[in-house]
Parts: sequence; C-alpha cells; structure tokens
Amino acid sequence: MTEPRLADLPLRDELRDQEPYGAPQLPVRTMLNVNETTYDVPPDVVDAIAKEVRAAAATLNRYPDREFTVLRQKLAAYLTGESGAELNADQIWAGNGSNEVMQHILQAFAGPGRSVMSFPPTYSMYPLYARGVYSDYIAGTRSADFTQEPDDVAAQIREDRPHVVILCSPNNPTGTSLSLDVVEAAYDAALESDTMVVVDEAYGEFRQPGTRSALTMLPGRPRLIVTRTMSKAFALAGGRLGYLAAAPAVTDALRLVRLPYHLSAITQAAATAALDHAETLMANVQRIKVQRDRLVSELNDMGLNPYPSDANFVLFGGLQDAHAAWQHLLDDGILIREAAITGHLRVTAGTEPETTDFLNSMRSYLNG
Ligand SMILES: Cc1ncc(COP(=O)(O)O)c(C=O)c1O
Repeated sequence: MTEPRLADLPLRDELRDQEPYGAPQLPVRTMLNVNETTYDVPPDVVDAIAKEVRAAAATLNRYPDREFTVLRQKLAAYLTGESGAELNADQIWAGNGSNEVMQHILQAFAGPGRSVMSFPPTYSMYPLYARGVYSDYIAGTRSADFTQEPDDVAAQIREDRPHVVILCSPNNPTGTSLSLDVVEAAYDAALESDTMVVVDEAYGEFRQPGTRSALTMLPGRPRLIVTRTMSKAFALAGGRLGYLAAAPAVTDALRLVRLPYHLSAITQAAATAALDHAETLMANVQRIKVQRDRLVSELNDMGLNPYPSDANFVLFGGLQDAHAAWQHLLDDGILIREAAITGHLRVTAGTEPETTDFLNSMRSYLNG
C-alpha cells in the first residue's frame, strides 16, 4: 500500500496548500533570528531548575496541580515588582508559551463566526491563531512609519467591531512600544462593541526606561488582557511558559477551554525555579538592551534605517536587496530574520561578540 500524501487527506479546506509556521533552525555560528536570549542560562539557574525538576520527577505518577498555584503566585509577585501594578494570583493565567495563552483567549472570546483584529506589520502568528479557531481575521492599518495613533486605532475598532483586538507592544517586527493613550483609546472604542482587548507584551521587559506597561491599566478594565512570556527576558524559550494578567473573571473563562492538566509538573517546576532567579536573569536583559541600542546606532552610522526599539531586536530598512543581504550574512554563518517588509531585515540583539559578528558582516556586505 502506498503512503497517502497530505493532498489526498480530507483536510479542512482552509488548511489546503498552507505552509506550517516556522523560522529556519539552522546550525550556524551566530543565530539572531527568533528573538531568543542568546546568553546561556547562568549555571546557578541551571542548578536551581535541575533541582526543582528532579523533585517534580518523583511526583510524575500523579497529574500536576491543574491550577499551577505556586507558579501563579510567583508570576503575580514578579509582575507586581516589574510593572508597579498590584496583581494577585487569581488574575494570572499561564500556558505552554504565550502562543498557547493566546489560543486560549481566542478559543474563549473569538471562535466560529467571530473576528480577530490586529495591525500588520505585526506578529505573524495572529492570523494563524484566528484561523485555528475558525474566526475571521481583520488586518487593521498603521501610519506609514508603522506607528499607531489613538484616534485611528479607535476609529478602526468602531468600524470593524472585532470580537478580539490584539495590540502588540513592543511590536514585533518594528520594535516600538505603544503609548498607553493608544491602549486607552482602543479600550474605550472596544467597550462599545463588547470587544476584548489583548496587549501582547512578550518583549515588555526590554522597554525603554519610563515606558509604562499596560499592566498598570488593568484596574477597572475587565475587558483588558495583558500577555507576557518567559521565552524572552527569562531566557526560557525552551521551557515554554507564557502567561497573562487580567480580571479574575477572564481566567475563569480560560478554564473552560484549556485541556486538562495543560501545564506539566516539569514545566511548572522549571518556570518556578527561573522566577526565583529573576534578578540574575534580568542582569542579562540590561546587557541585551546595551547591544540593542548599539545595533540602532551602528546601523544608522552605516547609512541604514533602524527603527527605535523597546524590544530585544531591531528592524532596519534602507537595503536595495534585503534577501541578498540576508544571504550574505547566512553564508557568513549569521542567521537573522527576513521581514515581510520590502528592503527590511530584523536582527536580535545578541551577546557583545555576536552583535559585533553581525555588524562586521553587515559592513562587509555594504562595502561590496
Ligand atoms: C510578539 C510575540 N508574541 C508572542 C510570541 C510567542 O512567544 P512564546 O510562545 O514563546 O511565549 C512571540 C515569539 O516570538 C512574539 O514575538
């Protein structure tokens, strides 16, 4: 019997001829394409994670705490310290990456016959989350420099009345944070159409000093959800832990759609140990921010057009042929990201030597 091909299977119509999401994972010297923390996990954090995971291993005959109680308490305490917003454990929800958290949100508040709106260029998974829950996707618009203005965002929400609107701040791939005026205007417009407002702060810890988190807007706003992740600032992309803060009623809604015991005891143990070492891990965030600002300044000196960044990556334009530049870097052992914007590339801020490696190769490309 011959193996059936994908095209022969009775696949959902909207999945036909689609490509799975996924940035290249190539064995290169300098990998700066998916906005990970490129510093190794510090040895004391490795030891602490190993100890917690070992203890959890002895309990693996039992299902894990489905309420991930300790983890939620620690996440609430961390967010309170990080943002200045007072948060309690009953306001916290978590999943296997903020991707899963976002899927829970859309399963609860979007779904068939409903719609999800975001504002490209932005995180390319948003339309795919919408597709996955059988919702329509609405692509909003931005200003020519990719910024967003309060009145414009509010007008688009009033016009399209989506069930869920996703704002991304700092935005991937542009790197810029939203002023809270935009979030406030979006929220007020969204109230008129019973729309849930999600602010994706995956890169929140990298924001420039003085930039407030949307977490501070949660009191009195029951339709607002702020998502975060441990994949970036906590150097835990491989651990898969994303989370959100919202009104307790929102977390009650998400309990209706999560799969039983969705957060394994191993995941809970690893994330809890990493949170206990937040201070050590945040020291690397400061180092990364230095390299991020260096990228903006040196790309500018090369005559390219980097965008100001509140994240751990920089988008830059001004390239005649962005693919040729990307290929030159790859041939040189450096992997960065091709952006869906003509003439632009996106690079993650790495360690100092990695950032130097990238900048040197970029200079050699421009000098022909
Ligand atoms: C804006 C944004 N949100 C969410 C994610 C998902 O991250 P994770 O599922 O690892 O938490 C990413 C990953 O790159 C991202 O760029």
